[in-house]
Amino acid sequence: MMMSTLSHILRALRNDAGTGVHGTDISQKLGISRAAVWSHIEELRSLGYGINAGPHKGYRLTEVPDILIADDLTSQLSEDQIIGNQIRVFRETASTNQLVDQIGLAGEPEGLVIFAESQTQGRGRLGRQWISPSKKGLWFSVLLRPALRPPQMTQLTVIAATALARAIRETTPLIPEIKWPNDILINGKKVAGVLTEMSAEPDRVLHAVIGIGLNVNLNEENFPDDLKPLATSLRLECGKPILRSSLAVHLLRALDADYRRIREGQFKMVSEEWESQCITLQKRVRIHQMDRVIDGYAESLDSEGALMVRTASGLLERITGGDVTIDKRKVK
Ligand code: BTN
Repeated sequence: MMMSTLSHILRALRNDAGTGVHGTDISQKLGISRAAVWSHIEELRSLGYGINAGPHKGYRLTEVPDILIADDLTSQLSEDQIIGNQIRVFRETASTNQLVDQIGLAGEPEGLVIFAESQTQGRGRLGRQWISPSKKGLWFSVLLRPALRPPQMTQLTVIAATALARAIRETTPLIPEIKWPNDILINGKKVAGVLTEMSAEPDRVLHAVIGIGLNVNLNEENFPDDLKPLATSLRLECGKPILRSSLAVHLLRALDADYRRIREGQFKMVSEEWESQCITLQKRVRIHQMDRVIDGYAESLDSEGALMVRTASGLLERITGGDVTIDKRKVK
């Protein structure tokens, strides 16, 4: 991961032990002039960072703006992260999944993450639209080149869901639940979704794109009427706004940790964590697929993350996609 000068300065300001960071120390460490340090500090101020500087006191970070800045995210990640080894932030794009897919086709190495402050054609599962209002959420996609065969791709969706749930638990008092295959719910309403897409040959994945949409600071009026009873945001659930950059950092660290787990062949560990938060199991479910509707009892997940559903005829069906409605009663 290449750290820019701005990233180094932000890291130094964040690591400040309370005494302030002196311009001379930064200039010596980075091999730039004090005037250059000062102009970077001015640049950060113009972006909305609060930075105090008193005589003989050094620079001190007092406020962080609620915008996504690639250098700032990079400065908070460890240098050996795979996911986020390159970060780009767009003010607006059609769909980050579409963009990352194009970049993947052009041969970019894995780990690239693209955030957009807003999307004009955000894509959801099953051809649905994903509402992505400006600066209200985390709308981003990750480029990966996993050594997986196409049927194992569900593993990527599973790591996205566990990472989302963990990052939400680490940064809010909320308790997230996973609805199969990959919706994150809070108090029964959807707060995040995952759209995993891939470019593959029959037995080999060329590249995969994990797209994550997390509703962070949306208000009631940001949701269209038909979604109001079904969707929510972290802000609506915990009653206060959340700093998106800090949440993004937790999320990228969690994703990286889980991606490493599956690369080391430890998918089982991740899937157990997923299963323990999955509210779809031991429930009566109805699954709408393109050409059929399946009613049954969700018994378990298989080793690849598919849902095993016992139908009225006694048959155990392996479900890998579709729209699931859960009957709230936890009885057989
Ligand atoms: C779902 O239907 O639950 C999946 C929603 C995924 C939305 C995200 S937002 C960032 C990325 N870009 C897109 O166009 N879609 C995904």
